[in-house]
Amino acid sequence: MSQQIDNVLHENRHFPPAREFQSRARLSTEEAYQRMYRESIDHPERFWGRIARELPWMQPFEKVLDWSGAPFAQWFTGGRINASAVCLDQHALGRRADQRAIVWEGEPGETRTLTYAELHLEVCRFANVLKARGVKKGDRVAIYMPMIPEAAVAMLACARIGAAHSVVFGGFSAHALRERIVDGGCTAVITADGGWRRGQVLPLKPQVDEAVEGLHEVHTVLVVKRAGNRVEWRDRRDAWYHEMVADVSTECAPEPMDSEDLLFLLYTSGSTGKPKGIVHTTGGYLVGAYLSTQFVFDLREGDLFWCTADVGWVTGHSYIVYGPLSNGATILMYEGAPTTPDAGRFWDIIDRHKVTIFYTAPTAIRTFMRLGDDVPRKYDLSSLRLLGSVGEPINPEAWMWYHREIGRQRCPIVDTWWQTETGSIAITPLPGVTVTQPGSATRPFFGIDAAVVDDKGHDLPADQGGYLVIKKPWPSMLRGIWGNPDRYREGYWGKYGNMYFAGDGARRDEKGYFWILGRVDDVLNVAGHRLSTMEIESALVSHEKVAEAAIVGRPDEVMGQAIVAFVSVVKGVVPDDALREALKEHVAHEIGKLARPAEIRFSDALPKTRSGKIMRRLLRDIAAGVETTGDTSTIEDFALLAKLRGDEE
Ligand code: WT7
Repeated sequence: MSQQIDNVLHENRHFPPAREFQSRARLSTEEAYQRMYRESIDHPERFWGRIARELPWMQPFEKVLDWSGAPFAQWFTGGRINASAVCLDQHALGRRADQRAIVWEGEPGETRTLTYAELHLEVCRFANVLKARGVKKGDRVAIYMPMIPEAAVAMLACARIGAAHSVVFGGFSAHALRERIVDGGCTAVITADGGWRRGQVLPLKPQVDEAVEGLHEVHTVLVVKRAGNRVEWRDRRDAWYHEMVADVSTECAPEPMDSEDLLFLLYTSGSTGKPKGIVHTTGGYLVGAYLSTQFVFDLREGDLFWCTADVGWVTGHSYIVYGPLSNGATILMYEGAPTTPDAGRFWDIIDRHKVTIFYTAPTAIRTFMRLGDDVPRKYDLSSLRLLGSVGEPINPEAWMWYHREIGRQRCPIVDTWWQTETGSIAITPLPGVTVTQPGSATRPFFGIDAAVVDDKGHDLPADQGGYLVIKKPWPSMLRGIWGNPDRYREGYWGKYGNMYFAGDGARRDEKGYFWILGRVDDVLNVAGHRLSTMEIESALVSHEKVAEAAIVGRPDEVMGQAIVAFVSVVKGVVPDDALREALKEHVAHEIGKLARPAEIRFSDALPKTRSGKIMRRLLRDIAAGVETTGDTSTIEDFALLAKLRGDEE
C-alpha cells in the first residue's frame, strides 16, 4: 500500500509582502529569518534562554530545558514567575499604566475600556474574592463565561493566586461542563447569569446549576452579573461577584509559581469519545505565547488586535489573553455573534474601533463570502494592516476572498497552523518576510522542528504527502493529558517514539512550505490512493453554486472507500439532480476522476461543533448508514442530523 497522500491540488499564486508593510516590519529579510530560525533549532537553549529573559521572572531559571524525562518536558527549571504579573504588573506599574488593555463591545452595543492600570486593579480584586471564597494555590477552577472582560479577569485572577483555570466554552451543554469539572477535579466554578448571543440572552448559571448538581467537591459558584436574567440560588454555594468585591482589598501580590506549575487545563476532543484535559504549565507556555504574538502578528505600538475566538478555545487563551497582554498590546474583545444585528457587524466593529490586526477562522470567512461582497464593501477597513486565519485548512477560494474583500489586497495573511497541544502557533508565515500562497501555512515558527514523514518515521521527499511531526520539544508544548500520562505518551509519541505526531497529514513543497492536509483520520483511501478530504472540499467550494462542502469516506468493497460529499448551496440555488451531476463533473475536472464523489447529499447547512469544525465522525456514520454513536454534545443543530440522514425527505 502506498504511504503517500496524493497531492492533487496545485496552487501557483504567490504574494510577497507589500513593500510598505515590509519596510516597517519587525523582521523583514529572509536572512534575518534564517538566522533566527537556525539558532532556535541548532542552539535552542541559547535562543529560548534569551527570549525567556525578556519576561519578568521572580526568580531566575537555572536550566532552559530538561528533556531527561521525555516525552515529559521541563522548561526553565528552577525559575519562578507569575502569568498575571507578566501580563499586568510590568505594564500597569510601568509606562503602559494608562494605555488601553481591553476594548470591549457587548452584543447589544455598549462598550467598555480597561487600561492596564484598571485591568490590574480588577484582577487583584477578583483574586481576593477567590481567596475569600476559599480558592487556594494548586486548586482547579472551572470558568464558564460569556465573552465579557471578566472572563479574562477571572483567568488572570486564578493565575495570580496560583490556581489553575479550566475554561469551558459557554456554548457547551451542562453535561459537557459537568464531565470537564469532574475530570479536572475543579472545586469552584466562575460563571455569569448569562450573556448575549444573536439578540437573546444565553443563560449560563442554570447550566452550571445542572452541571454541579450533587457534586459536593464544588464548594463555590461565583456569578458575575451580566445579562440580568433571573437565576436560582443555592445560598452557601453561590455568591454574586459584585457583592463579594465590595469587601475586598485592591491589593494582591502575585504568587511566585514554579515554571512547571500548572497554569491551565483545556479540554479538546480526540478521535475517541472522551475529551482530553490538555496540560499547560507556566513558564514555557508564556514564552511561546509571548514570542509568537510578537513575530507572527508583527506587533507594533498603537495596534488594536482582534482575535475573534472565544476564550473557551486555546486561540482565546494564547491570542486574546496571554500573548497580547504579555506584550503590552491592546486587544479588542466582542461578546456576540458575527451577524447580529446584521451581516456587517464584524466590519462595523473594525471600522468604528480602527482594528489593525484581525485574526479569525476559515469557517467564518466562508460564512461571510456567502453573505455577499457588498456587505464588507460598505465599511472603511483601511485601519487593517494584517489578517490571520486559524483552525482548519483555509481553502484557496476563501483565502483569495479574504485577501481581496477584507485585506483590500494590502494586508498580508498569516495562515497559522497549531493545536491546543502546541500551545502557540507552530507553522506560519512571518508577515514581513514570507511570500505567502493561498492554502499554505508556509514554514515552521522559531523552535519548531517540523517534518513530513512516512509510516516508519523517515523524512519524505518534497511534495509527498505524509504525517506531520515535530522532532524536538518546544516551550509551549503540552505537558501531558490530565490524569492520564499513558494516553499522552501513546497518543502523541507512541507512533514514532522520538517524535511528536500531531495527528495531521501534510506535504512539504520544494521551497519547504507546509501544506496541511487535515487530520489523518480525515484522509480517504480511494482505490489505493490516499486523498485529502480538504482538497476535494476545496474543489467543490470553487464551484459558483456551492457554499460549503464536507467530504467523508463510505466503506466500499471495490474502492476501499467511496467519496460522499455533503454540500450546501449558495442562496437562491435550488439543488437538483442536474446540479449533482454537474458537481461530480466539476470535481473530476478540478482534481481528476479519482476524486469524483460517488454520492452527493444536499443540506441547508453542515453539522459543526461550536468552534466551527465539521463533525466528520457524524457524517461518516450518516454516509455509511449506521446509527450515530458517541458524543454529540457539541453539535449546533440536532434537527440537521435527521435531515442529513434523509429522515425528513
Ligand atoms: C487542529 C487543532 C489552533 C487553534 C484552533 C484549533 C487544524 C488548525 C490550522 C491551519 C490547517 C489547521 C489541524 C490541527 N488546524 N489550524 N492553519 N491549517 N489546519 O485548535 O482544536 O486543537 O485543533 O486544527 O487539524 O491539528 P484545535
